[in-house]
Amino acid sequence: MGPMDYLKQNEKQSLEHLKEMLRIPSISAQSQHKEDVRRCAHWVADYMKSVGIKSEVCETGGHPLVYGEYHVSDNVPTILIYGHYDVQPVDPLNLWKTSPFDPIEEGGYLIGRGSSDDKGQIFCHIKSAEAYLKTVGKIPVNLKYMIEGEEESSTNNLGKFIQNNAAKFKSHIVVVSDGAQYGVDMPAINYGLRGIAFVEVKVTGPDRDLHSGSFGGTVANPIHVLAKMIGRLHFENGQVAIDGFYNNVYTPSRWEKDQMAKLPFDQKSFLSSTGAPKLWGEKGFAPLEQTWSRPTLDCNGITGGYQGEGGKTIIPSWASTKITMRLVPNMNPDDICNKIEAYLKKICPDTVRLEIIKHGGANPVMVPTDGPWLDAAARAIKIGFGKDPYFTKEGGSIPVVESFKTALGIDTLLLGLGQQTDNTHSPNERFLIKDFHRGCRTSAALLEEMAKIKV
Ligand code: BES
Ligand code: MN
Ligand code: MN
Repeated sequence: MGPMDYLKQNEKQSLEHLKEMLRIPSISAQSQHKEDVRRCAHWVADYMKSVGIKSEVCETGGHPLVYGEYHVSDNVPTILIYGHYDVQPVDPLNLWKTSPFDPIEEGGYLIGRGSSDDKGQIFCHIKSAEAYLKTVGKIPVNLKYMIEGEEESSTNNLGKFIQNNAAKFKSHIVVVSDGAQYGVDMPAINYGLRGIAFVEVKVTGPDRDLHSGSFGGTVANPIHVLAKMIGRLHFENGQVAIDGFYNNVYTPSRWEKDQMAKLPFDQKSFLSSTGAPKLWGEKGFAPLEQTWSRPTLDCNGITGGYQGEGGKTIIPSWASTKITMRLVPNMNPDDICNKIEAYLKKICPDTVRLEIIKHGGANPVMVPTDGPWLDAAARAIKIGFGKDPYFTKEGGSIPVVESFKTALGIDTLLLGLGQQTDNTHSPNERFLIKDFHRGCRTSAALLEEMAKIKV
């Protein structure tokens, strides 16, 4: 029996193993789940050990990182597989059809938090190694695994960890499966990710909530002030209004435009996948350009005043919002944080006090679009999915990818195995069960295809 037969014959059991990982609520952003995050790290490390991959749970200063290693020979490539075992928060709970950490199968999908982002995808690369070890007894390449627990929490202990442990991660190529294909049966290789910049903004008026009858009309209401400021972050044409925001924006190359033109895009089904009544965005750009090639700005949350039961007639003391901006090549998070700070200071009236916390973020990345590693990946996708991959970009961010190049000097391949419609970060996150199995087979093929590369 070969590795592909093993994967085929054990599909049910593989899915059950994945469900075990999904049952651990490893929400990295919420401190009440700190121990669950750690438990999940140990689950992953133990699973790898059980199939014959050396592994350890490493301290990073934050949530632990799972390191795995398999060495077969000095004469074959070493592949570093990156992924994350942490997940996003689950609220609002009432919109889930299952409890987020009690995965169910429905309509060909596995539904549960982390099923696609990223537990299901990273597990494909563990299962493929298992398939070799359980059949031929060895893997055709050397493997290293970096499976982190802080990807979703926008903290950055990993950057330091990589710098301090550069030798540990020495490898020829990084493979990341933490994204989406272009569509079902439309596998893709990603060649770019947007970067991200975070800020928190708070405006404070009175030093406490005031009676809105006794004081209403005499002091500015911080909610109104903040709402107006937020309203001034975009122009009517959908462009971001921050001075200098578009200064360095990268223009896609001819090759990129050609790749985009090859893609079927159905505006109607895109709209319906969002559930919004109408699309919106920067005028003059199509949706794929808007998410792949244009920088954008979104408020992620807004807080202030009273929203509890019944009424409370007050002028609230403060209002606040969290904002993220997606960046394209040649933009950088610190510069953009400074620019939004300057703009907010300029438009903020003197009736409130303004506080801005700049959190920085991650740089955008572009990865190779040709070469032997990429060719091997394209062949593997053809074997796993039966189709040649499209070349796509992604609007999301994976902060560590830049460090692979800058701190380790290694290129990355972005082989997303999920779908845009997997509801990642949303209620009812899901992973197509057939994508999981095809992902496992693609990974198995990838190891064999990469083993052919002379190093
Ligand atoms: N897997 C995503 C990144 C992603 C999203 C890739 C969509 C491809 C398509 C990752 O887990 C993620 O959510 N990243 C965050 C990073 C942030 C918290 C710094 C993101 O993009 O919001
Ligand atoms: Mn992810
Ligand atoms: Mn995510």
